[in-house]
Amino acid sequence: MPEGRTRVVVLDPLHPDAVTELSREHDVVVRLRPGEDELAVLVADADALVVRSGVRITAREVEQAKRLRVVARAGTGTDNIDLAACRSAGVQVFNIPGASAGAVAELALGLILAVTRRIVRADRRIRGGTWDKTGSAGPELAGRTLGVVGLGRIGSRLADLGRAVGMHVVASVAQPSPQRDAQLRGRGVTRLPLAELLSTADVVCLAVPLTEGTRGLLGPAELALMRPDAYLVNVSRGGVVDEGALHDALLRGRLAGAALDVHAVERGVPALAALDNVVLTPHIGATTTDAQLRVGRILVTELRRALAGGSAAGRVV
Ligand code: MLT
Repeated sequence: MPEGRTRVVVLDPLHPDAVTELSREHDVVVRLRPGEDELAVLVADADALVVRSGVRITAREVEQAKRLRVVARAGTGTDNIDLAACRSAGVQVFNIPGASAGAVAELALGLILAVTRRIVRADRRIRGGTWDKTGSAGPELAGRTLGVVGLGRIGSRLADLGRAVGMHVVASVAQPSPQRDAQLRGRGVTRLPLAELLSTADVVCLAVPLTEGTRGLLGPAELALMRPDAYLVNVSRGGVVDEGALHDALLRGRLAGAALDVHAVERGVPALAALDNVVLTPHIGATTTDAQLRVGRILVTELRRALAGGSAAGRVV
């Protein structure tokens, strides 16, 4: 490695333009989703790590990475990074909030349609040579109620999309206040406490970050509040819904269907895959070419700043 060049290890997919740009200034190693042993070797002499949601940066990796100065999350959230370990090792962590929220909201609308109109099931059947329409009926979205849990950038955009297709939109927010309620009413959104939202909505969409406060937010008791003809969609973070409880509710016919882009564990075949009324995507909400280009550009700029000793925009630690 040429003298003085910093080593940037990219562990999750990053836009090729950003990789090219980073390579002008740094030695860049791209190894997507390495196994534990390979990860240990890769972090050992890294100055910076670039991750999305696919790789866990635990205290062990931080401890092994003697030269590590920056962990860059090429997206929103830091739930796969041990922030306390980074803080005590003096490692800066930053993420890129907002750049892909629109893309995630669009995917949410797609998942709502895919699960309510049984598009994936129909696709599987037609590929198997079955052209009958048995069991394909589902509700129209217009006139139905969309319950959005969490009205950050993703939730707000999804609320707009829901209204655009004629849905009534209700939402639950972390910090309600009379001012916030008035603001929401101005956007055509009615705020409801979570329990009321769950028992009212035809489609519940989770759009909250994963924190200790939201982990398992929808467990057996909350899922039991949902109507048997309602659908659940999760696009924000895995772990917000208890997937075992969701599986059980679907199996017992206590929910009409579910669609998940985010998962508590990102590997293997999820147990939910065995059910016909479930649509699964592998955390591709942020994966539009446009969003990835934006994220890549921001990442290059902020990583340069952080490695030069400055503070990246989006700094978390
Ligand atoms: C994000 O929050 O932007 C995504 O989780 C990033 C990713 O695709 O992993």
